[in-house]
Amino acid sequence: MSVKIGNIDLGEFPLLLAPMEDVSDPPFRFVCKQNGVDMMYTEFISSEGLIRDAAKSKQKLDIFEYERPIGIQIFGSDIDTMREATEIASLAGPDLIDINYGCPVKNVACRGAGASLLQDIDKMTAMTKAVVESTHLPVTVKTRLGWDDNTKNVYEVAERLQDVGIQALSIHGRTRSQMYKGQADWTMIRDIKRNPRIEIPVFGNGDVDSIEKAAAWRMEYEVDGIMIGRASIGYPWIFRELKHFFQTGERLAGPSITERVETCRIHLQKSIQWKGPKTGIFEMRRHYANYFKGIPHFKEYRMKLVKLDNIADIEEVLSEIESNFANLEVIY
Ligand SMILES: Cc1cc2nc3c(=O)[nH]c(=O)nc-3n(C[C@H](O)[C@H](O)[C@H](O)COP(=O)(O)O)c2cc1C
Repeated sequence: MSVKIGNIDLGEFPLLLAPMEDVSDPPFRFVCKQNGVDMMYTEFISSEGLIRDAAKSKQKLDIFEYERPIGIQIFGSDIDTMREATEIASLAGPDLIDINYGCPVKNVACRGAGASLLQDIDKMTAMTKAVVESTHLPVTVKTRLGWDDNTKNVYEVAERLQDVGIQALSIHGRTRSQMYKGQADWTMIRDIKRNPRIEIPVFGNGDVDSIEKAAAWRMEYEVDGIMIGRASIGYPWIFRELKHFFQTGERLAGPSITERVETCRIHLQKSIQWKGPKTGIFEMRRHYANYFKGIPHFKEYRMKLVKLDNIADIEEVLSEIESNFANLEVIY
């Protein structure tokens, strides 16, 4: 059965790219889209930044036709600011607006935004209602299990946010205090799926990094789809591999070196197109090691790549990698 968010038809068991600051920008989204991801989100965008017209926040509103369906994710601590930010974000023309109630980092959570709203469900509900009422678009929410081990309240959160009109919920199976430590636990996500009151799609998030895990957790936790973050960094092929497996029951071979180089080149080119040569080349530096994980002594190439600031020279090193490792089977 197809999963739907409002009028958006995501097909059966969709795979979502998690919103990731400094990662899920248009260049990275391009390579994920090429590899079959079903829905994507922008990096989180500060509601305060949006209403102040801050350049950094505004730039994150850039979305492209080929990216659809795509959600713009916003966060904030003040309800009126969130309302105004929703109106601004809606004008950018996304398919939906997502609210971040999951971010654990101090800068966000300790300023009353992100996961900190898990400590005040009344405010979270009021904020969500305000966002829903400020846009014609579907509103979705991404959150965690709760603030800490003693307050795992996502079950109640799911009911209350559905009641004020959210149309899908993505849950990262950790609490705020866990940050990214320990294992994600999807048990409560299944509890929510089994709650007869819950009708909206529920997506599982946290630690999916292989076909085995995705297939096992799909069955075990009964989720409507999976959201993947870290495992896609430097490995956007995870989407096509999972899709293929779910459609056919068979495993695709991993990408060849040629394909890895090609995707890395595209990512670099898109980065330059969108950010300009200086920032585009600079920000691409953090991605090289991820694209070539498993290559012996890659450090040597990485050292070269991160020092170069001319695209032709970078392209040359990439060609060198391609020819030097043409016959290597990378085990990922
Ligand atoms: C570098 C990085 C940036 C992130 N930025 C965001 C963000 O902007 N908004 C958000 O909701 N979650 C953010 N997250 C959390 C991810 O969306 C996701 O919930 C988390 O990484 C767990 O999923 P994973 O195990 O598949 O990576 C970020 C995570 C990482 C690693």
